[in-house]
Parts: sequence; C-alpha cells; structure tokens
Amino acid sequence: MHVEVKHPCIQHKLAILRDAETGHKRFRELATEITMFVCYDALKHVEVENVSVETPVATAQCQKIANDIVVVPILRAGVGMLDGILGLVPTARVGFMGMYRDEATKKPVEYYNKVPANRDALYIVIDPMLATGGSTTAALDILKKNGVEKVIVVCIVTCPEGIERVEQSHPDVTIYTAAVDERLNEKKYIVPGLGDAGDRLFGTR
Ligand code: PRP
Ligand code: URA
Repeated sequence: MHVEVKHPCIQHKLAILRDAETGHKRFRELATEITMFVCYDALKHVEVENVSVETPVATAQCQKIANDIVVVPILRAGVGMLDGILGLVPTARVGFMGMYRDEATKKPVEYYNKVPANRDALYIVIDPMLATGGSTTAALDILKKNGVEKVIVVCIVTCPEGIERVEQSHPDVTIYTAAVDERLNEKKYIVPGLGDAGDRLFGTR
C-alpha cells in the first residue's frame, strides 16, 4: 500500500525542490521540511500508551508514543531526510544502511550496515527517491532477515514502477510519499522527478 500526502504546504515546497534552479542549501532545507510533514502523516497510526502527567494544576491523562522508533536512512541521500524526522521523534535511534545504485546495472550494491536490533521497534526506512524500488527492497530484505517485523518507508518522490516492486516483495510495508510521478526514463530516473537527490542535497554535481 502507498499513501501520497497531498497537503498544499507539502506540494508548494515540492515545487521549489523540483526546480533545477534551486541550490543545495535550499534543497536541503526543503527536504527536511517536506520529510517532517510526510512523517507527521506517516506516524498518525503509531501505537500510543496512556500516561498520567502532573501539571501545575492537576493530573492530566496523556498519551506517549509506545514503540521505540528506529530510523534507517539509506546512504547517502537518506541522510538528507534525517533532521526532518528527528525533529518529530528526537528520541529515535538511527541505523545507517549504505546502498548505491550501480550506474550500469541499476541494481543496488550494499556497502555499509549499522542498524540497531530491536524486534519490538517500529523501523522507518527513509530515502528521498524510490525509483526502480531496488534499493528500498534490498533494505527491507536485510531488515526482515535480521528479525524486523514492523517497518514503513518514507520517501519524497516515487513512481508506479517502484511502488509495484516494493509492494510485490513486501506487501505488508506501507510507503508514504509526497508525490507519485509518471514513470522512469531509460536511465531509470524518475520523470519528472527532481534529478539526482544525493547530488542536489550535497552539491556534488
Ligand atoms: C539513489 C536514491 C536511492 C536510489 C533509488 O541513490 O537515493 O537510494 O538511488 O533508486 P532505486 O529505487 O532504483 O534503487 P544513489 O544510488 O544515487 O546513491 P546516493 O544516495 O549515494 O547518491
Ligand atoms: N535516484 C535519484 O536520485 N533520482 C532518481 O530519479 C532516481 C534514482
């Protein structure tokens, strides 16, 4: 299943993010802001527990997030979403997964993995671009092999091909995104997309 979060505030920021004239400083800020909005929606159904809090006046019956949360940015572009999600859940743990898409084969290559293990936690895989879905699917395969049971994906832009790939391999995982674009081009870039997210975030091209 996928959820496209179509709030006007997100779509406004996404329009500036996509613009080829937007430089890396602004691109980073927007990626953080959009991530915070999309994650706000994605965490709507997170489990909560009841707690009593003593206010200066009386006892208030409140709710706190029940699960531990582990955020898993896929290196490198996923790092561009980390501040946004930590702004919402500052107590989350962070596990990094290094994955790049081989330029020739377009297949993901894993080069790093340091993810905390907690069977009860909610894992949130973050990567701005879900294109062929290869990188996200590989990350989900690894997490599940290590015993992870509750996991969702948050991206910024995806396309029907990527959604279908993840849904086929991991039908239990919901994808939250700011946009579902038209298609992939012959280089497996999302159209219209926003180009190479890692390069635009870090100013490497
Ligand atoms: C990009 C992006 C995703 C992947 C998406 O990473 O950040 O990880 O491509 O493509 P896919 O859905 O077809 O697998 P890239 O390989 O450019 O590495 P980078 O983050 O280091 O720039
Ligand atoms: N990776 C990106 O950064 N952009 C795309 O459009 C596809 C993969």
